[in-house]
Amino acid sequence: MVSYEQIFENNRQWVASKVSTDANFLEKLSQDQTPDYLYIGCSDSRVPANEIMGLEPGEVFVHRNVANLVCSIDLNVMAVINYAVRYLKVKHIVVCGHYNCGGVKAAMQPKDLGILNPWLRNIRDVYRLHKDELNAIKDEHERYNRLVELNVQEQCINVIKLASVQQEYAGHGYPKVYGWVFDLKTGLLKDLKLDFEKILHDIQEIYNLTDTKWELK
Ligand code: CO
Repeated sequence: MVSYEQIFENNRQWVASKVSTDANFLEKLSQDQTPDYLYIGCSDSRVPANEIMGLEPGEVFVHRNVANLVCSIDLNVMAVINYAVRYLKVKHIVVCGHYNCGGVKAAMQPKDLGILNPWLRNIRDVYRLHKDELNAIKDEHERYNRLVELNVQEQCINVIKLASVQQEYAGHGYPKVYGWVFDLKTGLLKDLKLDFEKILHDIQEIYNLTDTKWELK
């Protein structure tokens, strides 16, 4: 176990090492942030956003929660996305899940999980939407990994449903939304290659929020 005191020693060493490779590191760090990426991932300790993307402090705005969910009544994730899109003007929004996700696994169990129930309900809803495809997969582990992928896909769709994302994209051609899965066994990121334009076009039949000049009739 790493001791509490060790963390502060690690921190001093981190500063020394950063400054030794870039004398201006701290000066740059203390300026305004201008990240091009918003990363929405799982809280799992094995999936550190900056590290797996090879990005430095200042290069990625990060939101993490159990099973990387984008829920429209979660004020936290909504505030993060709104700030990233409207003020930071990020170019890319990534939803990154990971295989062997404990949150997704828990949602596959027929159990009362207390306070986790309303949160994991979002994943059970993903299962229901894709029930036929998932139930056709005989191997339980494969079915579980496919649900991880489909959960990422549905959370990307939830991002694309947002007024901020639709309006900024209509105005500037960004942000675009991407779905990834991190594989703990290989350390590699898999791009699910979701078709952002097609998803946007398809959902706008029902979720088109680009028009700000509406009136209730
Ligand atoms: Co997870």
